This record gives sequence, structure tokens and C-alpha cells, in this order.
Amino acid sequence: MKTVFITGCSSGFGLEIAKFFLDKGWRVVATMRTPREDILPRSENLKVLALDVKDPDSIRQALRDAGPIDVLVNNAGIGWMNPLEGTPIETVRDIFETNTFGAMAIMRAALPQFRERKSGVIVNVSSSTTMKPLPLLCVYTASKAAINAFTESVALELEPFNVRVRIVLPGRSPETSFSATARSRVQGQGDIPEAYSSYVAALFAARGQQQDADVTRPADVVEAVWRAATDPSAPMRIPAGADALALAT
Ligand SMILES: NC(=O)c1ccc[n+]([C@@H]2O[C@H](COP(=O)([O-])OP(=O)(O)OC[C@H]3O[C@@H](n4cnc5c(N)ncnc54)[C@H](OP(=O)(O)O)[C@@H]3O)[C@@H](O)[C@H]2O)c1
Repeated sequence: MKTVFITGCSSGFGLEIAKFFLDKGWRVVATMRTPREDILPRSENLKVLALDVKDPDSIRQALRDAGPIDVLVNNAGIGWMNPLEGTPIETVRDIFETNTFGAMAIMRAALPQFRERKSGVIVNVSSSTTMKPLPLLCVYTASKAAINAFTESVALELEPFNVRVRIVLPGRSPETSFSATARSRVQGQGDIPEAYSSYVAALFAARGQQQDADVTRPADVVEAVWRAATDPSAPMRIPAGADALALAT
């Protein structure tokens, strides 16, 4: 029986990925900043562990308590939608600490067991925002574009050890709490700067008129992560969701 270790399982994609792998008969280590057993089905194959990707001790502890794993899914992430001028440098650092350095730190901690066993898969959840420049997302996109470049490079040095690394690129998914959480974080940190308010209002008005047919469902992301984890012929970059697929073609 294979074991998957997933970050950010308290909600959204991470929670759905955990449920799906359990359904498929995998052992699942579902990690969260604040562990909650009740949001996942009861199962002897489930381990819920505390993990804050910004905390090295917590990474060490979670991987120790998890036991051997076969697949690591770096899903935890935070959003941010504000011009650069409205983004304090501490916030830039915080976004990179979570979205970029957090994933790298967990990979560093998990790699020795993969390398020694000459087997393992790492799936890094990025974003379709890296496929097309968008205003207000410059910092968030930078944190995910760094993950793309990093993943493609580290994949080469892990090939000799039979460790596979893939990137899943979800499109915009209104079904998760991601945007709402990002919005309240922006509001809590001074909101959009006044000088940009009319530009941002026009941007949102234009966006509101666009058709919203093409969005990403959590199930699209689950499917892409499953493919990355189980299909060695899967491409390096796997777009997830109709909007991400449209950008990729
Ligand atoms: N939804 C979208 O439109 C979209 C589009 C493209 C890519 N993505 C990416 O998909 C991933 C999942 O997003 P989602 O839509 O499922 O959003 P979500 O529901 O907000 O889930 C984000 C998860 O990350 C966790 N997290 C945040 N900071 C963490 C930390 N320091 N340590 C450990 N966990 C942490 C959150 O835990 P807490 O409950 O503790 O905060 C939560 O479980 C993210 O990497 C995001 O960038 C999302």
C-alpha cells in the first residue's frame, strides 16, 4: 500500500486530494497547521498531523511521525492580490516563505528517504497565473513561477535516483476559500493603495463582465495530482481546469 503526504489539507484542494487518495486505498498523511480529524472520513489508513510549512521543527516532526512515504504533495499556499506598492516587503517574504521556501524545505527533508530507496514522487502545486501575466498578482505569481523553474531544474538532478517531480497548475477556482482568505489578508494589511483604486475598480468591473464559464473545479486539481503521482509518462507541467487548459493550448 502506498503512502501520500499532503500539505495544506484543512480546506480546498488539499482536503479533496486527501479524500481521493483515501478512496483509492492509499495511506494518507494529511497535514494541517491546526489538525482536525473530523473533516476527513474515519479510516485506519489516515494519519492527520500538524505541519506549518514555515516551521522547520514542524516539518521534521511531521515527516518523522509520518513514517516512510511514497508521494509528497506540496499543496499548501497563500494568495495575495495587490499592486507591488500595496505589498509590504514583509508580506512578500511571507508569501515566498509559504509558497516557495516551504515547498523547498519539505522537499529537502523528504528527499533522503526517496534517494535511498531510489523511488518517490513529488508534486508541486503551482498556478496558471504563471502562464499569463496578470495585474495585482505580481508577487503571488513570482512565488509560484519560482516553484516552476525550481521544480524543472531539481527534477534533472533527481532523475538518477528515480525520483520523479511534477508541477500541477490549477486555474482560478472560486469553490475554495483561497480568494476570500487572500482578500481578507489584503484588507488586514492596509488594502489596495488609494493611488491604484480607480485602476483596480475598472479592472474588477471589466472582469465582472467576462464570462466565467472556464474555471477550475477542485476535482480537476485532484485528477491532475493523481496523474502526476501515478503516471510516469505525465508531462512535467500539468494544467488543471478548463481555464488552465485553455491557457496551455
Ligand atoms: N483556488 C485557486 O483559485 C487556486 C488557483 C491556483 C493555484 N492555487 C493553489 O492551490 C493550493 C491550494 O489552494 P486552495 O485553493 O485549496 O486554497 P485554500 O482552501 O485556502 O487552502 C490553502 C491551504 O494551505 C494551507 N496553508 C497556508 N499556509 C500554510 C502554512 N504556513 N503551513 C501549512 N499550511 C498552510 C491552509 O491552511 P490553514 O487552514 O491553516 O490556513 C489551507 O489548508 C495553493 O498552493 C494555491 O496557491 C489555488
